[in-house]
Amino acid sequence: MRSIDEVVIEFRDACVQLGGHTIWSGLSLEIKRGEFAAILGPNGVGKSTLIKVALGMTGLHFGEVRVLGAAPGRHQGEIGYLPQRRSFDPSLHIRGFDIVRLGLDGARWGLPLPMRRNRAREQRRIDDVIELVGASDYADRSIGQLSGGEQQRLLIAQALVQRPEILFLDEPLDSLDLPNQGAISSLIHHVSTVEGVTVVMVAHDVNPILAYLDRVIYIGPGGAVSGTAHEVITTENLSRLFKTPIEVLTTSDGRLVVVGQPEAPAHHSDRHEHGAATMLHAEHPHHHGDGTSH
Ligand SMILES: Nc1ncnc2c1ncn2[C@@H]1O[C@H](COP(=O)(O)OP(=O)(O)O)[C@@H](O)[C@H]1O
Ligand SMILES: [Mg+2]
Repeated sequence: MRSIDEVVIEFRDACVQLGGHTIWSGLSLEIKRGEFAAILGPNGVGKSTLIKVALGMTGLHFGEVRVLGAAPGRHQGEIGYLPQRRSFDPSLHIRGFDIVRLGLDGARWGLPLPMRRNRAREQRRIDDVIELVGASDYADRSIGQLSGGEQQRLLIAQALVQRPEILFLDEPLDSLDLPNQGAISSLIHHVSTVEGVTVVMVAHDVNPILAYLDRVIYIGPGGAVSGTAHEVITTENLSRLFKTPIEVLTTSDGRLVVVGQPEAPAHHSDRHEHGAATMLHAEHPHHHGDGTSH
């Protein structure tokens, strides 16, 4: 048996430079097997870059990273990855089942698996994982015709179909409405607890997942902090990370509201243009159902 204290992702004093700019430096963190960890921080601060480093798609300029005890990029099949969202063309006639099957073919990223196919077993796994994410009712429909939440469930199924040990999710709640954010958060929690998958998820708003998180990595212009959500998301830490006075308020029902957060110094922030005090604020902290129904 593997120890539950086993560190599966480790960064030591890591630094990334892209296009001549330091994206982040001095980043150290440990994520243990089975944990649900969130990477938080403003736009352009290097959250997606952190995931790409762990996947071996981006190299470090300095420092060290270990994933499942080895250098990144050597774990095809042991790692599932849901990249930051792009939308499907409504006219795209690929069925949900086939989207999930792509995860087995390794067509999404990395190299195809060696030829040792067992079609019946593959089909069973595809059906099981579609059921796990609660997408059985619509997996035979064209992906382009489905709602954002339905598409996201199928993409999570695709990332899970090879039974990965680690699942990287880059802003999976992005562009979902609040009930779907709650339902997908609950689903991801279910996957991490029931399937024992280590989940590392980039999030814009911590509140939908706050109750589930074992660990938070908060990246800001002034550095990065790792720990439990309530250790990390404090007035002191965020003021230091953003290099400006910030206040973290906890509402009576446990939500976190960040006041005074400046815009990120992003060179070109892409989609989120949320202003101060919106980033960790959610009006809807409640989780719906078990996440597998809707
Ligand atoms: N290939 C690249 N070359 C140069 N700069 C890049 C490259 N990829 C990303 N960046 C920059 O690195 C910064 C961090 O990007 P990213 O990790 O996508 O941020 P986040 O996910 O936190 O929004 C951004 O300023 C982005 O423009
Ligand atoms: Mg990103």
